[in-house]
Amino acid sequence: MSTTVHLKVNGQAHDVSVEPGTMLIYVLRDNLGLHGPKFGCGLSQCGACTVHLDGKAVHSCVMPVEAAQGHAVTTLEGLGTIDHPDPLQQAFIDEQAVQCGCPIRRSAILLSYRGCRSTRSRCVGSRRQASTGAMAWST
Ligand code: FES
Repeated sequence: MSTTVHLKVNGQAHDVSVEPGTMLIYVLRDNLGLHGPKFGCGLSQCGACTVHLDGKAVHSCVMPVEAAQGHAVTTLEGLGTIDHPDPLQQAFIDEQAVQCGCPIRRSAILLSYRGCRSTRSRCVGSRRQASTGAMAWST
C-alpha cells in the first residue's frame, strides 16, 4: 500500500507516491531523477548519500522519506549547474579535488558548507579539502 509524501527538494515541491518507510535516497534518485546522492554503504557510514535537510547534512540512505516532509531538502543539484556552479563547487573544480575517486566528493561539497563542519567524514581527502580553500570559502 503506497502513501503520498509531500517534499520540497532544491526549492521545488513534489508529491510522490511511495511505499511507507522508503528511504529518502531512493525517492530522490528513482522518483525525482536526482543522482547527486549516491548509494554507497547503506549504513550511514560513508557519506556518499549526503543531502541537506534544512541546511544540515544527513545521510539519505537511512532516512525514511516521511521524515523529510516539511523540511527543505537540498541535493548537489540544488547548489549549482554545470554552466553556473556554486562557488564551492567551483573551488573543488579549480583545485581538482578528486579525492579518493569514489563519489564522496559530492558529499564533501555538501559537508563543506557552513554549519556542517562538525560532521565526520571517513575520507582523509575530504578532511584535507575541508581544511583548505574550499572550507575557507564557506566561512
Ligand atoms: S550510503 Fe553510505 S552513508 Fe549513506
